[in-house]
Amino acid sequence: MCEKDILILGIESSCDETAAAVVKNGREVLSNVISSQIDLHTLFGGVVPEIASRKHIEKINQVIDQALSEAGLTLEDITAVAVTYGPGLVGALLVGVAQAKAIAYAKNLPLVGVHHIAGHVCANFIEHRELEPPFLCLIVSGGHTHLVVMKDYGRFEIIGRTRDDAAGEAFDKVARAVGLGYPGGPKIDKAAREGNPHAMKFPQAHIDGAPYDFSFSGLKSAVLNHINHARMSGAEISVSDLAASFQNAVVEALVSRAVAAAKEFGYRQIVLAGGVAANSALRQGLKDACEREQLEFYYPSPIFCTDNAAMIAAAGHYEYVRGVRHGWDLNAVPNLKLGEQRKTE
Ligand code: KG4
Ligand code: ZN
Repeated sequence: MCEKDILILGIESSCDETAAAVVKNGREVLSNVISSQIDLHTLFGGVVPEIASRKHIEKINQVIDQALSEAGLTLEDITAVAVTYGPGLVGALLVGVAQAKAIAYAKNLPLVGVHHIAGHVCANFIEHRELEPPFLCLIVSGGHTHLVVMKDYGRFEIIGRTRDDAAGEAFDKVARAVGLGYPGGPKIDKAAREGNPHAMKFPQAHIDGAPYDFSFSGLKSAVLNHINHARMSGAEISVSDLAASFQNAVVEALVSRAVAAAKEFGYRQIVLAGGVAANSALRQGLKDACEREQLEFYYPSPIFCTDNAAMIAAAGHYEYVRGVRHGWDLNAVPNLKLGEQRKTE
């Protein structure tokens, strides 16, 4: 380790993963520990907020200790503590925020609050050392579907967003309806591999005057109607065909808008981020479209697509470098908007 190295301890607890990581100079992951609560929430078919917060409290010390020990470091070596403070479940966010504040206060370290979605975007810096803003980014997670331009580190301009369900939410709801369980995304992805993406034709929503906005609730309802009709008439539902056809409709909506926006706004690079970025059909669809249009396409490995703290440490690094510092009054902000983070120094 060299004197000038910046070592960020990242902490993430916005939903159902308790995670801590150490990242060197914004791009090199020294450790990335994730304690997932998925098995616990599967029993209830979705994330139960109260259970999530309790589990975060149980796990957070252990996860942070492990992140430091896997990095071969102690808190004495850390430059700053970065933590997700929104958006997310308030009780879950509070656990990470309180822990980060306690560590930063006790060790006299700078505290940097990070926007969870900015973290997802910055996950791309970990494996693509050459990637620098500005670029166009398609963010698809359980709670968000945004088309943004990352203008510079910490500067985002939103050019499109979902009007209703997020892409991940649509995956989860459709999966539940066909009995695939929670979390739906990976299960639909797997089932779709055996299915025909053109077996059923589902509607594509277009919003007048907002060509880069998304809407997935109509698609979700069409799938649910299809299932109900089939059940009422006693027809057999091919889960794999349904999964493949639904997934194909989502991928088409996402890919067409991302490529059109890159062309209209003159960006040569499309970056994919968020939990749904792990979807194999979406990765392939965007890869093919970018090849056709001679655009460069970047996406993280699946482990950095879904929630993790390495992405929070990477985003925290660039916030730290541009002078963002938070005080002991840092609070969880469940509906934090992208680009709302304060620069206090
Ligand atoms: O980014 P993330 O881990 O959490 C949020 O910030 O929301 O995203 C979780 C979402 C869930 O809706 C999950 O079903 C979806 O990402 N997801 C996937 C896949 N893996 C995770 N969706 C489609 N295909 C996948 N392979
Ligand atoms: Zn996330």
